[in-house]
Amino acid sequence: MKIGIFTDPHYSNKIEPSGNRLHALSYDKIREAMAHFKKEKVDLVICLGDLTDDCYDIADNAKELKKLADMINSFGIKFYSLMGNHDCLSFTKEEFNELTNGVYPPFKIEFESNILIFLDCNYSNDGEAYKVRKVDWTNTFLPADQFDKLKKVLENSKNKYVFLHQNLDKDVDANHIVHNAERIRKELEQAENVKMVIQGHYHLGNDNEINGIKYHTLPAMCTGEENYYEVIVI
Ligand SMILES: [Fe+2]
Repeated sequence: MKIGIFTDPHYSNKIEPSGNRLHALSYDKIREAMAHFKKEKVDLVICLGDLTDDCYDIADNAKELKKLADMINSFGIKFYSLMGNHDCLSFTKEEFNELTNGVYPPFKIEFESNILIFLDCNYSNDGEAYKVRKVDWTNTFLPADQFDKLKKVLENSKNKYVFLHQNLDKDVDANHIVHNAERIRKELEQAENVKMVIQGHYHLGNDNEINGIKYHTLPAMCTGEENYYEVIVI
């Protein structure tokens, strides 16, 4: 199975950089990535979140997301996007899904000998989901209902790959790490055939291996003028 992956494009209509983030340029960067994925005949494309950021006028956020999603979907490749903290600033899950014509991933998909698991850690550690315009990006948590679903799917002996926006890797900057990451890692370690955890959010990117599981954090697409995306074969 071949998967095209990118993360943190932070797309908006803002031309000027915020720090090292070039928002508007991500439209062309995603188009370039999608063209490459098409050529590579990937089975699926995944964005690990922070697809969007605020426009000059936040009233334009929805229009810009729709424009971006229409371009991505025009390539005719199955596309899923997790939501990141920045997406949650602007959209509920339902709005995000509607504007993008249904790119929010299910909890798990099975493909040949693999199970892809998508975790949503856009919750604060009291179990409350992030609310539009009320997001503390440093407070990120996997709530009990997803934890239970995760335990159940980990009983399956197929190869498992876990995708999430925030970080389970313990060695990135602490503000980026999911509050109950240690408990989640323990569950993954006790299960059979958990091959890799694939994450965004920490814009510098990182690679780690903890107790036999690989933790791969992709560098953010929005950083500077260079593009960043990957094709993985699993
Ligand atoms: Fe981000």
